[in-house]
Amino acid sequence: MKTVLLMAVLLFSPLSFAQSLYQQLGEQQGIETIVEEMLYRVGGDERIAHHFDGVDIMRVHKLISEQVCDLSGGPCDYSGEDMKTSHRNMGVDNADFNALVEHLIAAMEKEDVPVSAQNQLLGVLAPMHGDIVEE
Ligand code: HEM
Repeated sequence: MKTVLLMAVLLFSPLSFAQSLYQQLGEQQGIETIVEEMLYRVGGDERIAHHFDGVDIMRVHKLISEQVCDLSGGPCDYSGEDMKTSHRNMGVDNADFNALVEHLIAAMEKEDVPVSAQNQLLGVLAPMHGDIVEE
């Protein structure tokens, strides 16, 4: 009886309903949609679109989706380059970085990602700033 009670308490405790960041981003499908929407907006932003001239955007979409899935606790292993290597000599500055983050937030808003989950993802990406921004 005690065990049954304990199980019932665990089952209905708020903890049981806590979702991982990966789940809150909508898992694989949600993440791919968010990254697609972000890259679409980046492509239309004249402040930063030039950085992507001649870039294989399907490949970048696949890699960023994989990276976000990996970092948010999903069942993925990021297979791309590290952030310092992949952004070397690109001349990305603070404003460029902020512009991309702006599009990421807009994409998450569009997909109805809760604000707390948005902030969690931004918190995971923020430490990459130093490896991506060069100026
Ligand atoms: C939190 C911010 C960012 C994240 C998480 C991120 C992530 C990535 C990833 C995973 C790749 C693929 C790496 C590889 O090639 O193996 C990539 C490539 C790239 N990123 Fe970023 N990035 C960020 C910010 C930026 C910014 C601000 C810009 C410029 C405005 C930028 C421009 C590019 C470009 C042009 C490539 C393609 C490089 C190539 O294929 O030659 N990224 N990024």
